[in-house]
This record gives sequence, structure tokens and C-alpha cells, in this order.
Amino acid sequence: MIEFKAVSASYDDEMPVLKDVSFTIDDGDFVAFVGTNGAGKSTTMRLMNGLLKPTAGEVLIDGVPTTQLKTSQLAAQVGFLFQNPDRQICCNTVRDELLFGFRAQGRADAHAEARVDAIIEQFGFDADAEPFLLNRGTRQLLALASIIVMETPYVVLDEPTTGLDFRECAKVMDIIAQLHAHGTTVIMVCHDMEVVGDYAQRVIAMTAGRVVADGPTFQVLCDRSALDATHLLAPQIPQISMALVENDPARADTALARANTVDEMLDALQAQEGAMSCGEVS
Ligand SMILES: Nc1ncnc2c1ncn2[C@@H]1O[C@H](COP(=O)(O)OP(=O)(O)O)[C@@H](O)[C@H]1O
Ligand SMILES: [Mg+2]
Repeated sequence: MIEFKAVSASYDDEMPVLKDVSFTIDDGDFVAFVGTNGAGKSTTMRLMNGLLKPTAGEVLIDGVPTTQLKTSQLAAQVGFLFQNPDRQICCNTVRDELLFGFRAQGRADAHAEARVDAIIEQFGFDADAEPFLLNRGTRQLLALASIIVMETPYVVLDEPTTGLDFRECAKVMDIIAQLHAHGTTVIMVCHDMEVVGDYAQRVIAMTAGRVVADGPTFQVLCDRSALDATHLLAPQIPQISMALVENDPARADTALARANTVDEMLDALQAQEGAMSCGEVS
């Protein structure tokens, strides 16, 4: 469990960048942080891996304040993908890059070698390739793989899909979804609201260093005041749902109005048609 208790943070002693931020992330959750540039999302992520310490309040990882944990202890708990993957790529081959975390923790043993082999196979990497000669999408995948290989219980991903094309984005999100399905707690900053709607279970919306909405994804994506405060647009399906309810409040509790994906919307429409053809009113 990751807990933020009334956390404030700043980069210098002047204006706080985060102001009184509180939330709890349960094990196994998939949380997306959304908000405009400068809202404080990356700062919140940095507080989770101890790169930054709070100026007030506490950040606790499994009940222990980050101020009491060594960097190596935090690294074993929280895998961290930087907003720019090139900030974390530093080795001459893909294989060395994937072994880097194990070497840094003094655990480059047979288990580590086996994990690296499995990841190279899963991602389809060329083990001897030079990381900086790979294209942007593959470098992003390598940075993600170098986190996943360590099998930390929490992964914090700062904009994992920014700058990727549609196919690369789908591949990265598919891998993150698999990781989550296997029990890893995923915390992700994401600007792509369609990706957020498709993958996250919960959304925390931030603006000007504060949390302005926190709840199940669909609920936040249909919260007009949260969307206005964060200058975000809901994905198309929740937008249609909102429009349906606004046109006819009687629809508020129907499956059609709750649909979060195209499939759910089609299912709801089909069920409604079926009910109407049987003479029922849905
Ligand atoms: N290293 C830094 N030094 C000083 N100010 C910073 C630094 N990083 C971010 N900031 C400031 O903190 C605020 C929040 O930034 P950030 O957490 O990166 O927002 P987001 O990720 O939501 O775009 C911004 O005003 C930004 O200019
Ligand atoms: Mg950021």
C-alpha cells in the first residue's frame, strides 16, 4: 500500500509545488494520474520512489515513511519509469541494460540472468543491440523492460506512452496490462484519456499541485467539474454517456449510460433493442 498523508513538496524553499495531497493506493490497483502540464504529477511520482522527500506530511510505502527507507530499499519496492526513457538508459547493450538494476543491487546471479533471458524473449529484443541506436518506441520498451525485469511489487510509470505511435502504444499498454493482471500495482501518469479509460481502474486528477478528483475511472471521466478544473476531455464513450444522461435524466442508471467501452455500449444497445422487441420498456 502507498499512502500520501497531507503531503506538500517543493524543489526550493519557495512556493510548494504539491499542497496537502492525500490518497491511498491499495495493492493490485491500477491508478492513472491525469492533469495538465505543471499540475504536479511527476512530482507526485518522484515522491513515491524517494527521489524527492516531502516538506510536510508523509509518504508511506507498506507503512514505512520514505524518509526512513534507503534508496536501495525503495528501489526494491518501487520500479520507476522516467518521463524520458533516455534518462534511465546508460549501458552499451540491451542485455547489460536489463542486468543493470540487478548489478546495482549486487544480485546479478543466475536468477537475474534467467529473468533477463525471459524478458528478452518476451519483448523480442536483440540482446546485443546498442540501446541508443534503437528507435524511440523500442527505447521506451527497453526502459519499461528494465523496470519489469526487477519484479517490484509497485511500478510507477511517468507517461509511458507519450511520443509513441498507435502500434507502439498498444504494445506498451498490453505489457502493462499483463503486469497488472499478474498482481503488480500500477501507477501511471497519462495524457491519453482513451488509454486511461481503457486501462485504469481509478483516476486521480490534479491541478496546481492539488488533487481535484479521485475515484473509479468512469466516475471521474464523467465528472464535468473535475474535467473542467483539469482542462481534460473525457474519452468519446463517456462523453456519449454524459450526453445521453443530459438529454434524458431517466437514463442515468441504465447500462447504456454506464458504458465505458465501445463493447459495453454496443451490448447495452443490443439489450435495449431486445427488450423493446419483446414489448418491454428499458
Ligand atoms: N526539478 C525541478 N526544479 C524546480 N521546479 C520544478 C522541477 N520539476 C518540476 N518543477 C515545477 O513543479 C511544478 C510541477 O511540475 P511537474 O510535477 O513536473 O508537473 P507535471 O508532471 O504534472 O507536468 C511545475 O511548476 C514545474 O515547473
Ligand atoms: Mg510530468
